[in-house]
Amino acid sequence: MLQSFVRAKKTFLSVTHAGNSSLLHKFCQSLHTSTPSLAKVVAVLYEAGAAAKEPRLLGCKENELGLRKFLESRGHKYIVMSDKEKLLDRELPDTEVLITTPFHPAYVTADRIAMSPKLKLCVTAGVGSDHVDLHAANKAKITVAEVTGSNVVSVAEHIVMQILALVRNFVPAYGQVIKGEWNVGDIAKDAFDLENKVVGTVGAGRIGYRVLERLKPFHCKELLYSDYQPLTPEMERAVGVKHVSFEELIQRCDVITINCPLHDKTRNLFNKDVFDKVKTGVYIVNTARGAIVDRDALVEAVKSGKVRGYAGDVWYPQPAPKDHPWRYMPRHAMTPHYSGTTLDAQMRYAEGTKDILERYFDGRPIKPEDLIVQDGQFASKAYVQPEK
Ligand code: NAI
Repeated sequence: MLQSFVRAKKTFLSVTHAGNSSLLHKFCQSLHTSTPSLAKVVAVLYEAGAAAKEPRLLGCKENELGLRKFLESRGHKYIVMSDKEKLLDRELPDTEVLITTPFHPAYVTADRIAMSPKLKLCVTAGVGSDHVDLHAANKAKITVAEVTGSNVVSVAEHIVMQILALVRNFVPAYGQVIKGEWNVGDIAKDAFDLENKVVGTVGAGRIGYRVLERLKPFHCKELLYSDYQPLTPEMERAVGVKHVSFEELIQRCDVITINCPLHDKTRNLFNKDVFDKVKTGVYIVNTARGAIVDRDALVEAVKSGKVRGYAGDVWYPQPAPKDHPWRYMPRHAMTPHYSGTTLDAQMRYAEGTKDILERYFDGRPIKPEDLIVQDGQFASKAYVQPEK
């Protein structure tokens, strides 16, 4: 009895010192008491309305990533909301874990981090954590983790679909059908084959490489990529891709797909200067992040015909306001942000989010590939572009 009291006291002292709820949880277990509410976990997810009746639509507010039972059985408090503004701000002062998703991004700015003194972990249910101010997270020693790889196939498939939609002029063709029209010439005058075109990806990480794999059977004239983290020669050979500079890529490609994260060096990467240099008539597909492309410069480039078509599913801000000019520019094939949130992907990122939480609460390390920032430093190289 005395021994177990001494053990419990030691644990208590280490808990008080560390101020970490996972240790506190262990302490409570060691006392064999009922576990009190340990951590406050807040999730900000999109509202799905009637669509939430589909139980596999896990990533919406209504279905809560399927985490309620798991969190509450461990004594944690789980608050789920779709509001990204006032309601979220109200919860932040005592939130320990914040779960957000790129599809309905709660912008975790430096101001919000400043109002969240207890925040220890931000989990992105999905891939892409640019909606968190990563520098501010580093300063505050907040860990940012995401479910790496969870939806990369889903996005790669969407990219190939959108490349084909643009190159083959699908959207106006479909428009004729539903409007009761039939004018083959009007569609065919802007339709091409993908075969024999030069296609390049800016970023050849998990998504970029999967796009290259899927494009190989289309017999493009050349496949190119730019990335400061080059592929291995074996990976390059397997898909027949050549590593080039960003400058060379934008000048030589008939089709460009953007697959790098949004960070300091990629914000507005596609600006007026770049649009002036691209091959006239280029198609661009961007499922990476809206803010990688200068909003108004793109509209001008599409209107002038320098860019023949633009597609993707990412906007800034999200949800895209009704008057966002990309909705109304000519020759686009944009969708709302859903490429990475297919039902298959949702299952994977819901499971991955649970895994990150389990590790955090058990005091076990989060998988290194899921870490974006930790202990005040970038853990992922994808957000740290070296100076030239
Ligand atoms: P990844 O980390 O596997 O690959 C990203 C690659 O981009 C890395 O190789 C990195 O070195 C490279 N990169 C960084 N800056 C670059 C630059 N300036 N130029 C060229 N390459 C650069 O990431 P993954 O899984 O391929 O995802 C990429 C991005 O796609 C995410 O960060 C996210 O923003 C976006 N995404 C979008 C989704 C959607 O639903 N639309 C879903 C998943 C990811």
